[in-house]
Amino acid sequence: MCDGLDFWTMIRTRRSIRRFSDREVPDDVLKQIVEAATWAPSSHNKQTWEFIVTRDKEKLAALSERRFSRFLKACPAAIIVLAPEHRSPRAQFLFTQNAAAATENLLLAARALGLATCWIGDFDDKQVHDLFQVPPDYRTMAVVAVGYPQTEEDFRDPFGRRPLEEVLHWEKF
Ligand SMILES: Cc1cc2nc3c(=O)[nH]c(=O)nc-3n(C[C@H](O)[C@H](O)[C@H](O)COP(=O)(O)O)c2cc1C
Repeated sequence: MCDGLDFWTMIRTRRSIRRFSDREVPDDVLKQIVEAATWAPSSHNKQTWEFIVTRDKEKLAALSERRFSRFLKACPAAIIVLAPEHRSPRAQFLFTQNAAAATENLLLAARALGLATCWIGDFDDKQVHDLFQVPPDYRTMAVVAVGYPQTEEDFRDPFGRRPLEEVLHWEKF
């Protein structure tokens, strides 16, 4: 475990990791990272999120049939983030943001515990409904691959970030 990671190390070494060791992720570790997700902010504190953990190899293989999710097949677990469906576009917009905040917490908590994750947006909402008996009034927001890294090197960032001067605007765009 490396939950002693300082804040900036955790932020800067959270990576999208797409290969995993064979080590299983214990229930209590998965629970801990989902708990972190539930501490995210949400509009009016509505906490409009649900999480499904899966370790089922067949379901992971089914989810991995898409172009940008192939690595899920060899991943020990995934967490599916769901939000309620709402007919108001404004509410849907807020529910989506709540789910995104929860997902980021999940990734950071996983990093703090030495786990490798990847946020996956390439999923088929209908397939998720069918595989996991999701009620029709929920939407899939993200699938997060979760496992242990093959090597600590996988937390390194080969690309860097856009420079602050380019993205930070003071007072006006
Ligand atoms: C909304 C969203 C959707 C993403 N979807 C995918 C995906 O379907 N497959 C994938 O391999 N990575 C996906 N990623 C991960 C990004 O590719 C990754 O965050 C980006 O390349 C930056 O790398 P880093 O996370 O290591 O900093 C997604 C990330 C976000 C935030």
